[in-house]
Amino acid sequence: MSTARKSDTNARRTSLMKIGLIGTGHIGSSLAKRLPTKGHEVKIANLRGPETIDSDLLATGAQAVTAEEAASDVDALILSIPLNAMSKIAPLVQSLPEQTAVIDTSNYYPNRDEAVEAIDNGQVESEWVVEQLGGRTIVKAWNAVGWGVLADDAREAGDPERVAIPVAGDDAHAKEIAMTLVNDSGLDPVDAGSLAESWRQQPGSPVYCTKLTADQIPAALKAARKEKLAHRRDMFVAVLFDHMEDETLTVDGDYGTQLSRIIYS
Ligand SMILES: NC(=O)c1ccc[n+]([C@@H]2O[C@H](COP(=O)([O-])OP(=O)(O)OC[C@H]3O[C@@H](n4cnc5c(N)ncnc54)[C@H](OP(=O)(O)O)[C@@H]3O)[C@@H](O)[C@H]2O)c1
Repeated sequence: MSTARKSDTNARRTSLMKIGLIGTGHIGSSLAKRLPTKGHEVKIANLRGPETIDSDLLATGAQAVTAEEAASDVDALILSIPLNAMSKIAPLVQSLPEQTAVIDTSNYYPNRDEAVEAIDNGQVESEWVVEQLGGRTIVKAWNAVGWGVLADDAREAGDPERVAIPVAGDDAHAKEIAMTLVNDSGLDPVDAGSLAESWRQQPGSPVYCTKLTADQIPAALKAARKEKLAHRRDMFVAVLFDHMEDETLTVDGDYGTQLSRIIYS
């Protein structure tokens, strides 16, 4: 694998950016609320139109727009939509200038998304996404953190308990932008190498939703086993659904982290 390195988040300078965000669900809503607090100019869009966006998401300064407007005149476009919606927004992504960083939060769950034969046969999820986007490269970020952690456990850089996440991509400029924004979202970014290696942060991997710190991430990336990912991902979902039916159990964010640690490590 390419060398994973801990980023120096304390030294990372925040440069103010224009950001487009498509998808205002579990993950997108946290980013919509947090990134404006760091001074960024944030435009947010969903599928149904700007008038349907909850005013709560605009409270810190984000602007509700159409997807076309979100993808216009921005330094970074964050895609936080279901994997199988990628091809629908491909024309918007393809029209972006080269220097705009495209950052994708998506994961593949065959029980939730339409089945994708290529991924089931081992294609790296982000490489499949790049194909859906007509070849436009992406940075993979925020995919390996549960929405509850992003919403509730964000901390300032330097906090010893700050949660870290891997960030993978092939374009150094785009990756640097993504790592800056991860830092501004309250998490430590760790450079996880190339998109070809990004299977190491897919569902089923030791780094996936296990709430690690930056020091722990490189070893977790290294320990990932590609042939185990799908089986472990599906095992997690099966246990989760089973336990959700059991009223004697508390299935909350902590539960998710503990179960991920048991199954994925
Ligand atoms: N949930 C998590 O904890 C988590 C963690 C890490 C990564 N992820 C990944 O991040 C992605 C988003 O997850 P989520 O849980 O935030 O999803 P979600 O709650 O289902 O929200 C999806 C958002 O995408 C929008 N959308 C769907 N198709 C669209 C299109 N064609 N054009 C514009 N917007 C579109 C939806 O618009 P409407 O609101 O109008 O329906 C919605 O705002 C997924 O790929 C997921 O696997 C999720």
